[in-house]
Amino acid sequence: MLAWWSFMVTLNTSSLSLNLACLNADRVGLDNNSIAEFHYPWLRDNCHCHECYHPDTHERILVSAEIPFCLRAETAQIEGDWLNVEWNDRGHKSAYQLTWLAEHSYSQSKLVSQNTFLADPAVGEITTWGRELQQNIATFDYAKLYADPSQLLAFCQAIRDYGLCIVRGAPAVEGEIERFAEHIACVRETIYDRLHNVRASPGEYNAYNVASTTLELKPHTDMPNYNNPPGVQMFHFLVNDSIGGESTAVDGARVAEQLKAQDPEAFDLLANTPMCFRMFSDRGDVINSNPLLTLGVDGELRVFRFSNQLAQPVNLPADKMEAFYLAYRKLGRLVEAPENKVEFRLNTGDIMVTNNLRVLHGRNAYDSSTGDRHLQLSYMDFDDVLSRIRMLLKT
Ligand SMILES: [Fe+2]
Repeated sequence: MLAWWSFMVTLNTSSLSLNLACLNADRVGLDNNSIAEFHYPWLRDNCHCHECYHPDTHERILVSAEIPFCLRAETAQIEGDWLNVEWNDRGHKSAYQLTWLAEHSYSQSKLVSQNTFLADPAVGEITTWGRELQQNIATFDYAKLYADPSQLLAFCQAIRDYGLCIVRGAPAVEGEIERFAEHIACVRETIYDRLHNVRASPGEYNAYNVASTTLELKPHTDMPNYNNPPGVQMFHFLVNDSIGGESTAVDGARVAEQLKAQDPEAFDLLANTPMCFRMFSDRGDVINSNPLLTLGVDGELRVFRFSNQLAQPVNLPADKMEAFYLAYRKLGRLVEAPENKVEFRLNTGDIMVTNNLRVLHGRNAYDSSTGDRHLQLSYMDFDDVLSRIRMLLKT
């Protein structure tokens, strides 16, 4: 009489099926009596023998592209907690722990955008916002972000979930924002200086853009001209003694939601029409075209690009132009809608932090004759802030 476990594996033409019923399937999120199907190239690609995976670096050595197209399992047997497979690929033998297979079963997978089995502690739920956030912007104390890891974690999570927060009490010292960026993650350099000065001082700093004037700055994201714009932007107020110049911010995720609800065709058009942005300095000239609403494969917003000042003349077939400008203006009016905008004054020693992939920032005009206004900016990549969340959660 055959043992019960000999019925666990079935070899098919292009895959094998495994009955995971004995593995306390509930624990790994499977239904009882689950039959998990594993395709041969997937299994071969995930062989963890020392020929295929480096034992120290835990990185794949096997070249996935070299897996034969005619790959088949010659034999597959359960022995103890292991599934042993012998392939028609030069007689290669693979062993898979059954619990690992259960944890990596994709038979019930609905995942597309998060194409991973990793339970990622850095994943969070974003909260979209409008003017109602004005009195509730997450605010942190600079010294505590150095002294208390739980505060630093909350700060990074606020960037992730709201895309806007304020830090009070930073030393009003030149270069401090660069040190702060290194405390959180690492500085993202661009063709602007590693540390970018913003103040109305024609002649002293090269006035590359309207930020270096005293004019109003409409809400915008920085550097949409990069294929990968800097993800996090930090504005450090070394001094703010001018009248005017209040900071503004708009949640692009909220605006995109509104456009999608009000005019789905306009949303789709802006998600599928590239727009050209250009930014230059004496160090470089970066030009790229991407949709204003750059979506992931799941249709979720990945990057909101909006910069009146950096947008280049639109080059589209003539019969597309009218519809594009209609959609573009609708988006722009939602950006400008008072119910979508928060406005607040920042003072010497304050830092405003935004998720530049989502949140637009701006400022009111100011009168430079009434006092100095000098900011220093530094950027980080959003991925590095998520990385910091993972590392803080490990400690
Ligand atoms: Fe800006």
